[in-house]
Amino acid sequence: MTDLSNKHLVLGLSGGIACYKAAEFCRALVKQGATVQVVMTEAAAQFITPVTMQALSNRTVFVSQWDAREPNNMAHINLSREADAIIVAPASADFMAKLLHGRADDLLSLMCLARPLDTVPLVLAPAMNREMWAHPATQRNMAQLRADGAHVLGVGQGEQACGETGDGRMLEPEELLQEVVALFQPKVLQGKQVLISAGPTFEAIDPVRGITNLSSGKMGFALARAAHEAGAQVTLVAGPVALPTPNGVQRTDVRSALQMHAAVMAHAPRADLFIATAAVADWRPAQAATEKIKKDGSGHMPTVVWQENPDILAELAASPRAQSGALFCVGFAAESQDLQAQAQAKRLRKGVPLMVGNIGPATFGADENALLLIDPQGSTEWPRASKLSLARQLVADIARRLT
Ligand code: CTP
Repeated sequence: MTDLSNKHLVLGLSGGIACYKAAEFCRALVKQGATVQVVMTEAAAQFITPVTMQALSNRTVFVSQWDAREPNNMAHINLSREADAIIVAPASADFMAKLLHGRADDLLSLMCLARPLDTVPLVLAPAMNREMWAHPATQRNMAQLRADGAHVLGVGQGEQACGETGDGRMLEPEELLQEVVALFQPKVLQGKQVLISAGPTFEAIDPVRGITNLSSGKMGFALARAAHEAGAQVTLVAGPVALPTPNGVQRTDVRSALQMHAAVMAHAPRADLFIATAAVADWRPAQAATEKIKKDGSGHMPTVVWQENPDILAELAASPRAQSGALFCVGFAAESQDLQAQAQAKRLRKGVPLMVGNIGPATFGADENALLLIDPQGSTEWPRASKLSLARQLVADIARRLT
């Protein structure tokens, strides 16, 4: 099973240079298991040919509302009835203005208007020049389209095909894919604020070296993605890792345990749920040297005086909001042996309702993991699976505990 197995999607292209990205997006949807029916406006066919989209989707493309291929000659009805979602990428400023007014003078807009509102979601991926994006008319139109039930995605920022720089680029194919996958995930954390710590910390000894650990941050990033898919507002406080930010997640990068502590505490007052996946260094040099420490010829490593770092999870779990039930805290125990006993003891020591145990050396850097959930009732083993699928399971499990 892939993320879009058994899903049938209509991919609509309106006219814009971002049509070139729609080709790769189409391929990504197919790779995730979806069947894709492409519908293009005539303007889109000026930017990329239907031949390309047919080859990528393995289906003939529809452009004209007068296309007689459908026996009843009602492509707009037939194609929209069989779809699990209609995704328009790129959605030009002109196309959105048209949708807003319920106009339907080409097949794609006709199909959007004719779609069953309650069962076929409409996703719009805007793409346009930065001035067009910022124009009050566009912003007003998007607000109204959202009010009418469309999922209007954000845009990327950066260099544009016109040579200008700013907001308005269509999201990248991988980001669009994440949004489409999210569309079909159950919204079990809708309206919740979720705070996640992830990755290792780095404790400087001097300006060129320090102490860290092997945590890759992958489990925390997978949880951030899963929580976003479940409808939560997600803040991810990440130690030094080279992972892309999951789409829709607000990320704060930190380096040391003290910085992670400050960032988590700053966001905690608004959080409903804190998941501590970070492998926080237990100790830091009491005083980092300001200049590089040189060998002194003695053959011995210079002595470093260590100071214990604050325990972020234990501190939050003991806070009045956590004690009153307003903030639910989940810990991760990375052990190398005796997982059950160690994680059980750690749950009590940290004062959290749920501790998730895993064997650090078996999972650090990997895309898979196996989990052991420990709560006051006992323990449950979750067998080895991808971190994303475990993250989705864990989000669903935690959501049940919140209600
Ligand atoms: N944790 C934290 N702040 C710390 C240390 C740990 O928030 N200073 C959190 C981790 O994010 C994790 C949990 O506490 O959710 C357990 O972390 P772990 O490193 O496994 O435990 P330690 O507290 O270091 O305990 P021990 O040294 O006994 O392994």
